[in-house]
Amino acid sequence: MKVDGKEMRPIWLSSDNPLEVHVIDQRMLPHELVIAPLKDVDDTIHAIREMFVRGAPLIGATGAWGVYLACINAPGGQVTDAWVETEAKRLKASRPTAVNLAWAVDRMTARIAAVDGDGPRVRAAREEAAAITDEEAENCRLIGEFGVALIEEISRKKKGETVNILTHCNAGWLACVEYGTATAPIYEAYNRGIDVHVWVDETRPLNQGARLTAWELGKHGVKHTVIADNAGGHLMQHGMVDLVITGTDRTTWTGDVANKIGTYLKALAAQDNNIPFWVALPSSTFDWEMDDGVREIPIEVRNPDEIRYIQGKVDGKLVQVLVPPAGSACENHAFDVTPARLVTGFITERGLCEASGDGVLGLFPEKGKEA
Ligand code: MRU
Repeated sequence: MKVDGKEMRPIWLSSDNPLEVHVIDQRMLPHELVIAPLKDVDDTIHAIREMFVRGAPLIGATGAWGVYLACINAPGGQVTDAWVETEAKRLKASRPTAVNLAWAVDRMTARIAAVDGDGPRVRAAREEAAAITDEEAENCRLIGEFGVALIEEISRKKKGETVNILTHCNAGWLACVEYGTATAPIYEAYNRGIDVHVWVDETRPLNQGARLTAWELGKHGVKHTVIADNAGGHLMQHGMVDLVITGTDRTTWTGDVANKIGTYLKALAAQDNNIPFWVALPSSTFDWEMDDGVREIPIEVRNPDEIRYIQGKVDGKLVQVLVPPAGSACENHAFDVTPARLVTGFITERGLCEASGDGVLGLFPEKGKEA
């Protein structure tokens, strides 16, 4: 997507040095656009854990490039199965909730295992990581093509009046390589001249909405308003939200949706107010094994300091400000699970479907055997 006239992705292989992968350090946005180099698996794990990169599809793409970095850094240049598997295991453990990470790393190891020779293995790893990255971008483009119909329909019903969409966290191109998941239909609607406005949940504790979604939408020219996380229900009660679209980190094939903490409360409020609640995701975010999201999806618990401190810019400097009393206990559950019954449907690269096993398998029949 364009940032100040320049095409950018949140991750790319350095054009000057093919031994380095570059990422946008999203911790610094929106105040600074910092590019960080990843040179090995340790750098990659650090970037995923500390959230230089975040968002399910991007975590997957980063994991894939991490496997490539493992291959080019193999001891003695020997890209053995054992080495690749050990490094893959470490990468997969870096964040637990987004299933895209394991999906992408497993795809990488399968591709490498099918190739003989150290040089060919490095080349295969590079090709596969690039393919995963490009495919996720294309999946998001298709999500936009399919999802825009929902916005067009509301716009028609409202006779061209502004369509108000609420979103939570950042499920934009920063989280996904290009277009985003939740934002793809919004960008497409904007590009088609539909009058859209986005309510952006700030998304405490790390403020991915206020920092990242607002930044992205602003760069694209999409009207948006940042709101406190707890404002959504009130806006819905007063007819100020036409549609909710979120992304997801892992969705069971039965339709339960893990996403940034607070998503569940938005879904409850949407149901109470009869507002459609759609979830946009590429197929890499489906978990084809798990049946019961609330019980089975691992929910990351992060450092409580993310609750204690808020980051912002004061007098040109990034600063962290302590909010609660220094001695108060804090707890930081990073995701929650919205049960399928609260989800109107899914927007995927193959089209729209109901949030149920039948709906999902209707679009992805080839997964029926595994599920
Ligand atoms: O903790 P984060 O910032 O990685 O959480 C990201 C989200 O919850 C996104 O909504 C989700 O990954 C979907 S991204 C298309």
